[in-house]
Amino acid sequence: MKELLHKLLFEDVDIPSMPEIATKILAALEDKHSSVHKIANLVLKDQSLTANILRIANTPYYQTGKHVTKINDAIMSLGMHNLIPLISIIMLRQQLMSKTIDNELLEHSCKVSIISSLLATEVDIKKEEALIAGLLHDVGILIIFFNAPSTYNALKLKVQTDKIAFVQAENEILGGDHCHIGSLLAKKWNFPPIYDYVIKHHHDTDVSEGKLTYEDKLCYLVRVADHIVFEAGIGIGQSYEKNLPRLLSVLRIGKETYDSAVGKIQEIDCIA
Ligand SMILES: [Fe+2]
Ligand SMILES: [Fe+2]
Repeated sequence: MKELLHKLLFEDVDIPSMPEIATKILAALEDKHSSVHKIANLVLKDQSLTANILRIANTPYYQTGKHVTKINDAIMSLGMHNLIPLISIIMLRQQLMSKTIDNELLEHSCKVSIISSLLATEVDIKKEEALIAGLLHDVGILIIFFNAPSTYNALKLKVQTDKIAFVQAENEILGGDHCHIGSLLAKKWNFPPIYDYVIKHHHDTDVSEGKLTYEDKLCYLVRVADHIVFEAGIGIGQSYEKNLPRLLSVLRIGKETYDSAVGKIQEIDCIA
């Protein structure tokens, strides 16, 4: 187990490489002189990527209000800066498509992303950033699944037997967790730092006493959404959140808003 821990937690972890077309798009996105038109032409070279970007831009949880049919419009409404993590998650899921992915895991991330985006405007967070942060927050678990399916199954069994949080089982069995592993992926795939922050800190137990930074707020928002989704029984194991009242208080999320988000969970038609 120690060997696996080392493999998972240190630099030799087998984090999948970015497919060639995605590498080209991401390079173009990093060039500040690239136009939407240039990015759109690159995206159009990959049919599945095009379909996925259009689908995400048309989810009711994005605020556009009109049906988007052109990739240029979809890129504009999602925001160029959000394409890096979005393309990354689409590509990662395509790479994992050949394996049988645990639906429980996908549904959990999808619902956390939607609940985060529903609550985003209440806490002055951009909806699309909340959506992406929610989609990505548990990406480290996908890496464990990808690298070591038997360890993933052992963790899942421990979580169910001991009725604990997944992150607790990871720390007991591996001595490290998916937050650290996910952060390695975020760095390797050049996610904007704000998403790396959420991936790395979404199971922290403390809540800042001082003035909140934007990234703290986004991270706390995802912690709240993660808790709501676990409490609805969607996800592997239990919520690890120990500080919910304090989180709600610093985010200024009232009981009515919180209860309304809880009430919506079952009616969310997940895109996963
Ligand atoms: Fe997590
Ligand atoms: Fe989660």
